[in-house]
Amino acid sequence: MRAGLVAMIVAGAASLQAAPASAQSLDYEFFKARVEPIFLKKKPGHTRCYVCHAESNNAFRLEKLAPGAKFWTEEQSRRNFATVSKLVVPGNFSASRLLFMPLAPEAGGNSFHNGGRQFESKDDPDWKTLARWANVQKPGTSQ
Ligand code: HEC
Repeated sequence: MRAGLVAMIVAGAASLQAAPASAQSLDYEFFKARVEPIFLKKKPGHTRCYVCHAESNNAFRLEKLAPGAKFWTEEQSRRNFATVSKLVVPGNFSASRLLFMPLAPEAGGNSFHNGGRQFESKDDPDWKTLARWANVQKPGTSQ
C-alpha cells in the first residue's frame, strides 16, 4: 500500500518535470522485443532505419550487427536502449525525436528527415509501438 503510494508520487513528479528518459520509465524488455525489430524491418517503399542509422553520426546511432547476425546481442541491445532512450521524453510527443522525426509532416511530424516519411500517420502500428514505449498515450494531444 505505502510502497504503491510512494511509487505513484515518484512517477507523478517525474512526469511533471518532463524528466529526461530514464531506465525507470522506459521498459528495456519492451524495447528489445518490440521496438528494436522496427529498426530492422523493411517497410515497402522505405529504407530500413538500420541502413542509415547504424553507426551514423547523428544522435540516433544504432549498434552495427555482427556479420551474419540477424539481431543485436544483449550487450548491444543495452547500448541501443541507452542511445534511443535519449531521443524520447516519456509522455511528451513534441520532445521525442524518435517519434516526430520519421513521421509525415501532415501527421505532425518533421519535414526535414533525410530518412523520409517512414510513418504516414500515427495510426501506423509500428509508430504506435514506438509511442507506447515512450509512454505517449494520446499522441498529438500531449504537447
Ligand atoms: C535514408 C536514410 C535514413 C533512413 C532510412 C532513416 N533515417 Fe533517420 N535520419 C537520417 C539522417 C541523415 C538523419 C540526420 C539528419 C536529418 O535530420 O535528417 C536522421 C535523423 C533521425 C533522427 C534524429 C537524430 C538526431 O540527431 O536527433 C531520428 C530520431 C531518426 N532519424 C529516426 C529514424 C527512424 C525511426 C527511422 C526508421 C523508421 C529512420 N530514421 C530512417 C537518415 C535516415
